Amino acid sequence: MGRVVVKSLPDMKQARNRTLRPSLIREEVVVPPLTKAFAEGKTYHIKTFGCQANVRDEEIMSGYLEVAGFKRASSEEAADLVIINTCAVRENAEEKVYGEIGKFKAHSLKDPEFTLAVCGCMMQEEGAAKKIMSSYPYVNLVFGTHNMPNLLNLLEEHLARKKDLIDVISFPGDIVENLPSSRLDDCKAYVNITYGCDKFCTYCIVPYTRGRERSRAKEDILKECEELVKQGYKEITLLGQNVNSYGKDFKDGTSFATILEDVAKLGIPRLRFMTSHPWDFSDEMLEVIAKYPNIMKCIHLPVQSGNTEMLRLMGRRYSREDYLDLVRRIREKIPGCALTTDIIVGFPNETEEQFLDTLTLCEQVKYDAAFTFIYSPRKGTPAAAINDNVSDKDKHDRFDRLLKVVEAGVMSHSKEMVGKTYDVLADGVSKKDAGRLSGYTESGKLVNFPGPSYLKGHIVPVKIVEDHAFSMIGELQVDPIIVLLDDAAQKLSREEASIRFKEAMKAYREDESVAKIRDDMEDAQKRMMECASKSDDEGYQKAKNEYMSLADLYKKHPVVANLAAAESELEPLLKEVAEILE
Ligand code: 5AD
Ligand code: SF4
Repeated sequence: MGRVVVKSLPDMKQARNRTLRPSLIREEVVVPPLTKAFAEGKTYHIKTFGCQANVRDEEIMSGYLEVAGFKRASSEEAADLVIINTCAVRENAEEKVYGEIGKFKAHSLKDPEFTLAVCGCMMQEEGAAKKIMSSYPYVNLVFGTHNMPNLLNLLEEHLARKKDLIDVISFPGDIVENLPSSRLDDCKAYVNITYGCDKFCTYCIVPYTRGRERSRAKEDILKECEELVKQGYKEITLLGQNVNSYGKDFKDGTSFATILEDVAKLGIPRLRFMTSHPWDFSDEMLEVIAKYPNIMKCIHLPVQSGNTEMLRLMGRRYSREDYLDLVRRIREKIPGCALTTDIIVGFPNETEEQFLDTLTLCEQVKYDAAFTFIYSPRKGTPAAAINDNVSDKDKHDRFDRLLKVVEAGVMSHSKEMVGKTYDVLADGVSKKDAGRLSGYTESGKLVNFPGPSYLKGHIVPVKIVEDHAFSMIGELQVDPIIVLLDDAAQKLSREEASIRFKEAMKAYREDESVAKIRDDMEDAQKRMMECASKSDDEGYQKAKNEYMSLADLYKKHPVVANLAAAESELEPLLKEVAEILE
């Protein structure tokens, strides 16, 4: 590996370390010179595997690359720089990554300037980085989750030294603010509120790949959300491995319920959050969710298993009864609240009876959606050291049986929706037919319905007319033009120019000296009319002069001048709205 410079490699012991306090770094993006020159006229593509945290990382890496001068490529084949952003949660996610890297071999051999990077959770595992560099010699950069803010410097070093680099640090992690970002969607946005995880469920690699649990400052989260509201985003999802432990590290009484409430008050039309750990789901949270109509009544609450002994071995900190009691409390406080979950089957030594507990729990809860997984041993986690006596055949058989039970629950919810009307955030236009839209209901149900493409990004009422297992067919219940008008009015009221106009108008209406000039002008006008009707030329002229000097006074009055300026500022905005309506 002479061509490869190993700057740092991951270490499971350091990855477990929770002693170092995270530092808060306010990042100023500086583009180094070689990278700047290299980026000119070049395009990038990022291929992301795994969860929403990885998707958000992709947006941040895109932000760095775009600041440097790269443009988003129209396709992965067209890109000059490709980053493969990996997941380590299960083995099959890793296998997909190897397949993906292989796809770029020909391109890399043909074009010496083509740059291939592999990053993310899988790189945080011991052995992965070196394996990639030796098996795929055309990979130029390997970096870990904690090295992401250093992306441009790594690229610079690669260009300067003409060497391939591995830089994967293992440590509890920092909080980096002012991160650049190029969002992938213009109506739905993810906002990180916590990073890392301290739960150490025995099967899970995440606490090792993403470091200790650390919360972003409330002010930074609110600033980001406020900006999204201003930009007209319709949905924010607050992200964290365990959103409901938000703020515990501040030790000042801050909780997830407080940040959730503060974000809800900003007025984003839809607010979601994920993932919630049943262990620290508080009643305070339930109250906030119930209180705010813009907090979606849909909670992702991974159960993992329905058997208490399995849950103990998984390190989940709750029993079957605790979980079911939480479900009861949720449904009591928030009637109709949708619940979704994650379930693992075939954890080491799971017996048939223990598996049946998972089935009965699913039958009882009737989830709106469930992500089901066959247990996958992750090297370095406690569960990977347990001797397992469940055969592969049994694991697959249990998986299939679980899927059937989950599906029955999902279908029962779908059936109940037929004939009813739901608000749907239209976030997709069919590639085959621009007259067909898709979007999600509050409960997270996917609905396909006919409608004009300009409704993308709008929340519209849709009547469900047909149910399929995992998506529904609907009919739009509103005239699309009304949606546009409503949106234009809202857009107008949010703009700074219209806020300034409203303030100027208020000052104008309340100012007594302006009112007095207006009254005097009216008086002078009346006198002009009277004199004119009596053919009193002299009186008319006097009243007219008086009127003219009052009009001059009026025009120059600061409150009136301010209103006129605000009015002219509003003009381009009104034109813009008129264009939207056209
Ligand atoms: N094997 C199978 N599934 C896993 N998950 C996490 N680790 C593993 C593993 N080793 C699942 C859990 C988690 C979801 C994101 O992935 O259900 O909630
Ligand atoms: Fe993994 Fe458990 Fe943390 Fe979720 S809570 S990320 S399953 S360790």
